[in-house]
Amino acid sequence: MHVELSNVTKVYEDPPETVTALKDISFHVKEGEFLCIVGPSGCGKSTLLRMIAGLDRPSSGQIRFRGDLLTSPHSKISMVFQSFALLPWRTVVQNVEFGLEVQGKPKSEREAKAMSLLEMVGLQGSENLYPKQLSGGMKQRVGIARALAIDPEVVLMDEAFSAIDEFTAGALRAEVSDIHKETGKTFLLVTHNLPEAIELADRILVLSSRPARVKSIVGVDLERPRASTDSEFITIHKDIFALLQAELENSLMRHRLSELPEFRKLRDIEDR
Ligand SMILES: Nc1ncnc2c1ncn2[C@@H]1O[C@H](COP(=O)(O)OP(=O)(O)OP(=O)(O)O)[C@@H](O)[C@H]1O
Ligand SMILES: [Mg+2]
Repeated sequence: MHVELSNVTKVYEDPPETVTALKDISFHVKEGEFLCIVGPSGCGKSTLLRMIAGLDRPSSGQIRFRGDLLTSPHSKISMVFQSFALLPWRTVVQNVEFGLEVQGKPKSEREAKAMSLLEMVGLQGSENLYPKQLSGGMKQRVGIARALAIDPEVVLMDEAFSAIDEFTAGALRAEVSDIHKETGKTFLLVTHNLPEAIELADRILVLSSRPARVKSIVGVDLERPRASTDSEFITIHKDIFALLQAELENSLMRHRLSELPEFRKLRDIEDR
């Protein structure tokens, strides 16, 4: 297995609060697979991705990459952030070169690699601009080029298309799908956008509301490129939507129940 999680639980101890973000999560991702992760807001999706990126550690359970225990950031796993996270004092090409610089690669090699990736994401001619001169779509293209620069085996994307207008996001999704096909890299994408997940994924991991557990894993066995008007596409959409809606209702119910003593107190005060 390329990436494998076994009984991963994450508890944030933030006294006096203790938040269990993830509970007993187990799943795997095969090499070259495109896995999308969906789940209710706040259920722990970013936490999950951050742990695979080695930016955070599970409270219990294991994450393995190529069978080896993952305990810190790995040079073959890179991340694309929702908020782009570009370095504002660096130009486009310098941002893309960053990871290679950290790895100590010589300037000529860094530049050649960065320029070819910028061409691949359609940013040739913009290499000397600064992040503040770019549109959201261009910034995310830089984010994607930067993630690919270190030649990762696994690309993690956290809501990578949600801060971009829908038209540009559509074009970027198609490009990412092409990159996936051409490079054979493994992709994990967290998204709120169900059609986006169905368009891109080989499989979709559906998480429950917090603490997130694996609710279902749905295979998407449709030819690419996929049309959202296709009847099978619509069926998958309906099925996952129903799963998520049930989760939302569960969590609302839990919320209401937990609030019950407060409601009682309030009623008592009003009755006095
Ligand atoms: N560093 C932290 N310290 C304490 N609690 C945290 C920390 N990071 C996340 N949490 C909590 O863990 C839970 C899951 O957060 P996370 O950001 O992983 O959710 P998410 O599914 O990505 O949410 P969204 O859909 O809104 O992006 C939340 O209740 C959040 O408040
Ligand atoms: Mg998140």
